Amino acid sequence: MKILEDSRDLIYTDWTLSEVNFAPEQLRTRETVFTIGNGHLGTRGSFEEGYPKAMPATLVHGVYDDVPVIYTELANCPDWLSLLVIIDGENFRLDRGEILHYERQLDLRYGLLSRSVRWRSPNGKTLDLRFERFASLPDRQVLVLRCHITPIDFNGEIEVQSSLNGYPENQGFDHWEQIDQGKMKQGNEQGAWLQVRTRHSQIELGMAAKIAVIGTNSSLHIATPVGYPTLTATYKAIAGQTICIEKFVTLFTSQETAVPVQAAQDKLVGLPDYEALFTAHQQAWDKVWEHSDIEIEGNLKAQLAVRYNLFQLLISASEHNDRVSVSAKTLSGFGYRGHIFWDTEIFILPFFTFTQPAIARSLLTYRYHTLAGARRKALHSKYQGAMFSWESATTGDEMTPRTSILTDPYAETVRIWCRDREIHLSADIVYAIWHYWQATGDDHWLCEYGAEIIFDTAIFWISRLEWHVEKERYELCDVIGADEYHEKVDNNAFTNRMVQWHLEKAVAVYDWLQQNFPDRSLELRQKLQLTSEHLQHWQTAIAKIYIPYDDKTELIEQFEGFFQLQDIDLKEYEPRLRSIQAVLGIEETNQRQVLKQPDVLMLLYLMRDTRSEPNCRNILQKNWDYYAPRTDITYGSSLTPAIHAILAANLDKSAEADELFMRAALVDLEDNRGNTEDGIHAASTGGVWQAVVFGFGGIQLLDNAPVATPHLPPTWTRLKFKLNWRGTWHSFDLKPSHSPVSDIKGFIFDLDGVLTDTAEFHYLAWQKLADEEKIPFDRKANEPLRGVSRRKSLMLIVGDRTYSEAQLQEMMERKNRYYVDSITTITPKNLLAGGLDFLKELRQAGIKIAIGSASKNARSVIEKLHLSDYVDSIADGNSVQHPKPAPDLFLFAANLLGLKPAQCVVVEDAAVGIEAAIAGGMWAVGIGPVDRFKTANVILPNLIDVHWRNLQTKLDQRALKI
Ligand code: BGC
Ligand code: BGC
Repeated sequence: MKILEDSRDLIYTDWTLSEVNFAPEQLRTRETVFTIGNGHLGTRGSFEEGYPKAMPATLVHGVYDDVPVIYTELANCPDWLSLLVIIDGENFRLDRGEILHYERQLDLRYGLLSRSVRWRSPNGKTLDLRFERFASLPDRQVLVLRCHITPIDFNGEIEVQSSLNGYPENQGFDHWEQIDQGKMKQGNEQGAWLQVRTRHSQIELGMAAKIAVIGTNSSLHIATPVGYPTLTATYKAIAGQTICIEKFVTLFTSQETAVPVQAAQDKLVGLPDYEALFTAHQQAWDKVWEHSDIEIEGNLKAQLAVRYNLFQLLISASEHNDRVSVSAKTLSGFGYRGHIFWDTEIFILPFFTFTQPAIARSLLTYRYHTLAGARRKALHSKYQGAMFSWESATTGDEMTPRTSILTDPYAETVRIWCRDREIHLSADIVYAIWHYWQATGDDHWLCEYGAEIIFDTAIFWISRLEWHVEKERYELCDVIGADEYHEKVDNNAFTNRMVQWHLEKAVAVYDWLQQNFPDRSLELRQKLQLTSEHLQHWQTAIAKIYIPYDDKTELIEQFEGFFQLQDIDLKEYEPRLRSIQAVLGIEETNQRQVLKQPDVLMLLYLMRDTRSEPNCRNILQKNWDYYAPRTDITYGSSLTPAIHAILAANLDKSAEADELFMRAALVDLEDNRGNTEDGIHAASTGGVWQAVVFGFGGIQLLDNAPVATPHLPPTWTRLKFKLNWRGTWHSFDLKPSHSPVSDIKGFIFDLDGVLTDTAEFHYLAWQKLADEEKIPFDRKANEPLRGVSRRKSLMLIVGDRTYSEAQLQEMMERKNRYYVDSITTITPKNLLAGGLDFLKELRQAGIKIAIGSASKNARSVIEKLHLSDYVDSIADGNSVQHPKPAPDLFLFAANLLGLKPAQCVVVEDAAVGIEAAIAGGMWAVGIGPVDRFKTANVILPNLIDVHWRNLQTKLDQRALKI
């Protein structure tokens, strides 16, 4: 295990990372870190001249080949980098001679990797070399590198050998059969080509290369040994004179074109020069960053680390090939062999959905094209429909190795149960589909692709669910949840709730399709043999699936029996550099309350927008307190820190969130898990984006727009990003929220004149009474009665007329009778326009809602208006003694909500109500004409088209006036 101190020598600017010392023991780690690519292929940051134990790799999406035990893997493609600089017979190489200066730099804005070296050969010749390389973004089959060479203290002959290496290996395994190689000449241009084919999958690959020597005369020699075409330029070097060698490479496979070797040559001949290629490449990157960038001010390390993660995401996928997807280590290393997991849909996809939706669509379409494999897996496992494979590649068939691969002759093989039991993936895919649809409104895709996936996987669930006769519930037994430390569990809350959610969406999409695309609906019903029984079954499964939740403790039990397992105190095992599973062994870990990665907390994160889940802040807090300390955050799974960071930010644990976030953002830059050499931690890169946007930005996706409630880490002074929501770009420019507006957690609504027009009913009842008593009264005289208690209203009406207490009591009762009689006719039709929509929006944003009404009948009015579901607490005319303008009623309501006064907004139509709110230290929003209120923070004519985001801004602007 590596000691981490020595890997901290990267230097960051806002767009570049530089390594200023060459440390051979970090060779492979840094090869991963300095990976470049273009969404179609990735090339690790290996040196052009090679190095002992180097692991160079160029991985091209979709180029898989068979291999024992793990079935298939991305085949390392012929190396295009090779460039040897030979000075009077001595090869430039870093393991010989002397390194006088060294700097390797990755420019994230344009995916340009460069390296500057001053090197003295064993014979004492000093030269400066500057290498640069990029994989063209607009022209994905084009790879370019160049090298500037300057002899410092000698004149002599320099030879530059530039090759295509047809013998790449996957950790010792050679996937390629050599077919042919040769020279090419067209006009003045000369080059060489290579043709190879994978041994089993029979994917053909053709490459062509040419070089240009700029700044001197040179001779060119082309040699074509089998599998290793080489172009050699020789020239007379003069001390102090810089020349430049440019190498252009084209690469095609039979997945894109029928005769790749020809396509590679044709493309090479017509290529523009280096500058033109680079300019086009820069323009393409500018366009990508315009939508996908995140700007952070106040913390340079966080800024660079975030951009680094975004860069790795952006080079891992493209919209041009919907038969491939992002693997767990992107195209940057051999870990997990290029297999595709839930990492893509749950961790990576949101970034694309919201910033590059065409790429998101392409990644989801990959799952559509692999439905056949998912159906074979279901059939093989004796289920119906489509069951997606835990690890997937080209066909969608199960690629998870059955057992571990042994290198120790005395070790026992370990059965890998994920392939059989980690079934949540099918629901995870549907989760991503649904959110893609919500965010983009891409009905066409849902109709043509998504719906079929959603239905056929729902059919699978029905065949997989088991009915428990005595307990009268559906169960999913013998599964692995998100937490892989527990390998054989029943009723995993994460899986069961995801399945329930999936079936809910299946029903919704079924109805939607039926209504909007009846032909496609019919077609799918026939194709999938989807019957009305299936539909009924989905409904009963939704109602009857078991989700272990204890409403007394408010804890969700990870699976049945989890709380009975032996507890653990992870602190007792510190310090350690291994996972708890490696420390305790698989069996022992299985028996303990220790998690590899979030399971219940993952569920609470994913379900944050649904109202049916026990998902209020309180429950999140309880479950966080329980599960976070039992999670193996350091060495369990790299998927954990970003998700925990989001939840910590949501729970206002800003410093903890920041620490977790940086752990995720630096996982590869600082190799903080010690396995970066296997490739980039792809899920974590996607988690980093989610942590910035959903954690620190506090973005919630409301129907009309995304809304931010920032919780920035302590050092961040500004955060900017863009999101595409339903075809519109939304730019966020967030500052640390010193503003008390960001603390608002509750709303207290007056009822009469705000949510409903019972003010009118009150008026009519008073009018009737006044008429009977022959007291002059009219609408104008009614104005001061708004929001005022019954007794005080009566006193205002009677003025200086004298009545006994008994008479007053009788009149109040009479008025109330009239009123109560009239309100029996109240229905939701009596809601004032805009109110219900606003309540719904607030609920969605997690804001608590109370009613603070002077009316003693408030409760029954709320019921009649069908508002009970939107209201957490009611303070009415029976709650306190002192009426408005005393603050008591609102303070009582805030207390019921469990909030401080400053965290509540009061919405009132009466001047006394606004006075009461201000007296109570609350925010006050007046509803009515401007001249009615003296002190309100914001005045609105009514609640029509009022949105929380806009209101927040308005309150913020007036925040200083209170
Ligand atoms: C995690 C899985 C993840 C896989 C690939 C495992 O260690 O437990 O959740 O899908 O790695 O990243
Ligand atoms: C991961 C599993 C994976 C298995 C085989 C384990 O390390 O946790 O998710 O299926 O490796 O690749």
